[in-house]
Amino acid sequence: MLTPVVPSIAEVRQLVREARQAGRRVGFVPTMGALHAGHAALIRQARLETDFVVVSIFVNPTQFGPTEDFGKYPRTLEDDRQLCTAVGTDLIFAPDAATMYPPDASTFVEVPALQTGLCGDRRPGHFRGVATVVLKLFNIVAPDVAYFGQKDYQQARLLQQMAEDLNVPTQVVMCPTVRESDGLAMSSRNRYLSPVERGHAVCLIQSLEHAKLMLAAGERHVNLLVRGMVDILEQTPGARIDYVEIRDAKTLQPIGVVERPAVAALAVFLGTTRLIDNLILNP
Ligand code: PAF
Repeated sequence: MLTPVVPSIAEVRQLVREARQAGRRVGFVPTMGALHAGHAALIRQARLETDFVVVSIFVNPTQFGPTEDFGKYPRTLEDDRQLCTAVGTDLIFAPDAATMYPPDASTFVEVPALQTGLCGDRRPGHFRGVATVVLKLFNIVAPDVAYFGQKDYQQARLLQQMAEDLNVPTQVVMCPTVRESDGLAMSSRNRYLSPVERGHAVCLIQSLEHAKLMLAAGERHVNLLVRGMVDILEQTPGARIDYVEIRDAKTLQPIGVVERPAVAALAVFLGTTRLIDNLILNP
């Protein structure tokens, strides 16, 4: 049987309430659909660790800038439903925009310390939209545990901080990035790449791995590590750097030397497609 798709907030609340009354722990994987193996891994982890798994599918308008890909973002509900069913989802919450944002809605959530820098500077308003929709989804689904991928590292850190700061009774778990066989991080946006761009997209993980190798060889100065990463990207035809940075892994503040766990993070355009990736650097 296919996983039920529920568009109404009241119905999701009712079904989750029933699951909880039956003693089941609720796991939650928020998504924008266009599901791939990365999402499947999050759902599988939720399946392993909790008893009632909810996936939300909602292309959230408030996290897209005016010139971004909201209109063309892939909407593949029937395929997504098949994937959710195959990996063991109990319920899909797929609201429409009017359900999530009634015309008189005017409250937004901000996490200033973590929403600036990295993607936050390049995508103004993006993390405000993410934090707002995720808190709304947490309030609707009331999960015990929610799962996010490390590929969106800044997002996952910011949501952990939001949950902590606002006393949200949901554990926010960051799960490892799932990669294609050549190392490209799974992303719904990979489908925008032409075959040539797809070939070149391996430069992201090569650049990150290079930083890891330099660190292992004893280099701890961030400017030199970043220089090494940039060199790899600059040798890749068609790659245009949006940013390459190494920051503290917890606070996401800039650092000069890698003395504690740090995150090497980058955003690179291939053609018009913007890809992001990151690796943790452990000195
Ligand atoms: O990572 C995503 O797909 C989205 O940013 C999220 C967390 C579902 C919020 O819309």
